[in-house]
Amino acid sequence: MLIVAFCTLKLKHTNSQIKKAKFFMIEKIYMNFPTFYDLKYNINPWMSKNKKPNLDLAQKQWLSLYHTIKNWEIKLEVLENYLSPDSVFIADSGIIYGNKFVLSNFKFAERKEETKGWQQYFSKNYKVIDVSSYGCYEGSGDSFIIKDFFICGYGYRTCESVAKKIGDILELQSILLELVDNNFFHLDTCLAFLDTENLIFYPPAISYLSKKYLENNFNCFDIPKEEAFMFGCNLVQHKKNLILQQGCNKIADIARKLDFQVYFQNLSEFIKAGGGAKCLTLKNN
Ligand code: ARG
Repeated sequence: MLIVAFCTLKLKHTNSQIKKAKFFMIEKIYMNFPTFYDLKYNINPWMSKNKKPNLDLAQKQWLSLYHTIKNWEIKLEVLENYLSPDSVFIADSGIIYGNKFVLSNFKFAERKEETKGWQQYFSKNYKVIDVSSYGCYEGSGDSFIIKDFFICGYGYRTCESVAKKIGDILELQSILLELVDNNFFHLDTCLAFLDTENLIFYPPAISYLSKKYLENNFNCFDIPKEEAFMFGCNLVQHKKNLILQQGCNKIADIARKLDFQVYFQNLSEFIKAGGGAKCLTLKNN
């Protein structure tokens, strides 16, 4: 009788759920206060030294995002004084899966200096995995874990070879999506999962074959160009809550039809550096 019960239980759960259960995972979001946020260099098409962010306004916008998330039922951990102009974009530090933290290996020298700090910080609670010998990888900016899949964008920041390797390391099936428009240099700038079945994306930013894969395996909602360029895909999702860049009304309509509660935020000062709500947060998997 006991054996039967165990088998049924096992069948109902995916491998990733079984793996995660071992770690008694508490859902958690990390954020990094923009103490040193600035625009000192130019490593993506959004960044221009002539369009410097207003630090005071950026900190207010960050705090508003923080307070919205703080009201949700999820643990929120904040770093306060770390480190460089772009380290506010904590999603790019790595990806968390159970008790593992796969550390990013940034493409540009300007962001490489962040790595040591992320390594030290996350090694307190996670087993840090260094993939630098396989090539560049930009963490949760370029990758998602959905069910048993490690879904990774490549082409601008992350290398294809690393993306394949991380799937093997985490014992997940790698799904590689090729990015084809440098305005959307990270996967989280042109695609967001609303849950394990539904996603929104901006199709012109993703190669034909990658797009076909997504359409065959998920319910995909295309989003309009103007909302893609407002960083509409760079959203924070937790349960049925969604934080969206202000003005992304078409995405909000899609989400509300799926019963999401939408919270708008204006993150204009971060968009100047090529980031939005999603990359200001790092959520565990
Ligand atoms: N200025 C940062 C960079 O170019 C922006 C990173 C935004 N991160 C993201 N996951 N979209 O690296």
